[in-house]
Amino acid sequence: MIADIVVGLQFGDEGKGKVAHQLAKNGNYTHVLRFNGGCNAGHTIYHDGKKFVTHHIPCGVFHGIRSVIGPGCVIDAKKLLKEIEELEEHGIPAGDLLRISSNAHVITDFHLAQDARDEDIGTTKTGNGPAYRDKHSRKGVRAMEIPELEQYLIDTYSEFYQNEDFESVEILCEGAQGFGLDIDWGDYPYVTSSSCTVAAAVQNGIPHNSIRDVWGVAKIYETYVGAKKFENLEEDCFADIREFGGEYGATTGRSRQISWLSYDLLKTAMTVNGVNKLVVNKVDVLEKIGVWKMFADVSLYEFNDGEHMENWLRSAIEEEFSNLDFVIFSGDPERI
Ligand code: IMP
Ligand code: MG
Repeated sequence: MIADIVVGLQFGDEGKGKVAHQLAKNGNYTHVLRFNGGCNAGHTIYHDGKKFVTHHIPCGVFHGIRSVIGPGCVIDAKKLLKEIEELEEHGIPAGDLLRISSNAHVITDFHLAQDARDEDIGTTKTGNGPAYRDKHSRKGVRAMEIPELEQYLIDTYSEFYQNEDFESVEILCEGAQGFGLDIDWGDYPYVTSSSCTVAAAVQNGIPHNSIRDVWGVAKIYETYVGAKKFENLEEDCFADIREFGGEYGATTGRSRQISWLSYDLLKTAMTVNGVNKLVVNKVDVLEKIGVWKMFADVSLYEFNDGEHMENWLRSAIEEEFSNLDFVIFSGDPERI
């Protein structure tokens, strides 16, 4: 097995969907695997000039690649079936390519009702937290118990290790959320209920020694949606960033809070994930507003232009991470 893993280095919405979509298009993958989270995720993808927002379904379906929802995920069966239908209406053969690990957990109506009452965390109210809670307290419901999912069910081990359809498997692992929302590494309790690092991919049947590349995805600024106060500076240009960057939740439509990139968070997230390929997205947004700032070691740095900020970041990262292959600053995912 060969595996490449795409992880978010901030608070979700870094553009992992676009990176994964591009990798799936260019690579030789036999599978794309979603390894954490549920329909709290919203991956915005432009495919053949059309905009798609997927919540559950891995991006392999856009490229004829078998797409697995792994055992580390939680599934809202009704929303998933609707997502399959919508993709099929646009000619994407999602139903044929989708596979669901039979022991993935499901989000029940009870989970949805409970999450709907959340006020403290600012969740996406998609039942994610209660479903993981019940999984870990061993009271959960699994995909194998839902008749509507039966046609998609697989045994993950057989799919990856005893599969006669492929001589060997090459898997693109598509993470959801990001390091700042990770249950262990994020700003608890303002986190999601799953692991969002490479460790979560490994738990889905991806041995550590099969990992080839870890693609870390960040944005040139930060955004967060949820209950905590995230905007710790009053900057007029945050409203412009939100507008130009389209910084509204892909799942809930909520306005995302904005902050400058934290180099310290980026460094920690890259270290813990063992990132060897880094993509920094949405450079075009700061280009448009013409303000370039960043936190590093608690200080706020300001740069004259994008080139200076990119150069600063590139040399700091290259000095810190000797295993790094490259950094891509991207306003345009086609460059990857
Ligand atoms: P939950 O995952 O719905 O329980 O929400 C917990 C926290 O994670 C909230 O602050 C959500 O806004 C945030 N969150 C969950 N999924 C995503 C995502 O895909 N992008 C951005 N934020 C997310
Ligand atoms: Mg998103």
